[in-house]
Amino acid sequence: MSFQSEIVNWYLNHKRDLPWRGTTDAYIIWLSEVILQQTRVDQGLPYFNNFLQNYPTVLDFASASETQVLKLWQGLGYYSRGRNMLFTARQVRDLHGGVFPVRYDQLIKLKGIGEYTAAAIASFSSNESKAVLDGNVFRVLSRYFGIESPINSSTGKKQFADLAQSLISGQQPSVYNQAIMEFGALQCKPKSPNCGICPVQDSCFAQKHHLVGTLPVKLNK
Ligand code: ADE
Repeated sequence: MSFQSEIVNWYLNHKRDLPWRGTTDAYIIWLSEVILQQTRVDQGLPYFNNFLQNYPTVLDFASASETQVLKLWQGLGYYSRGRNMLFTARQVRDLHGGVFPVRYDQLIKLKGIGEYTAAAIASFSSNESKAVLDGNVFRVLSRYFGIESPINSSTGKKQFADLAQSLISGQQPSVYNQAIMEFGALQCKPKSPNCGICPVQDSCFAQKHHLVGTLPVKLNK
């Protein structure tokens, strides 16, 4: 079985039941992805539910005041995320008639939406074939394929981005992107992963060369 098929198989058997996984609503996916940047799932979940209850649509969000948004954001840290969200919601209202875009090329033009978030929304909401690249994906790819380029160098980023994009072809983008992130979060963990139960241990470069504790490489800048 290919690496991708193994990862998707693993995901179908191990995935957590998370509320944003049952929807293709780009607004709801955007909300979850921005909250989950730099925030663990268990910490972000109540905030996600609270935001969605207060602002069921992007137009409700766009009508909020900054004070209201920052109040709901309280405790999550990185308050610029909350401020940028309001700006994004208003752009969706003013430039897209309140319909949240689902294509990568449109999403990436919005302020506050970077490559990761644009790829996540495009793949989860419209199944567009854009590979996500977050800390989980860097870790899985660097270990499995033995990529020793620093994940925070420009050559490293390009190498990982090219590899990630090549792997997604032929897959269901939505499922595969969720799968590789979940695999990184639950199985191919940063510290002391349990490689003995890993479905791809036999073909993993890091496992074979005893580099699980060394990869991914990150430069101290
Ligand atoms: N972290 C960031 N995005 C996520 C997602 N879609 N599912 C689970 N964890 C995540």
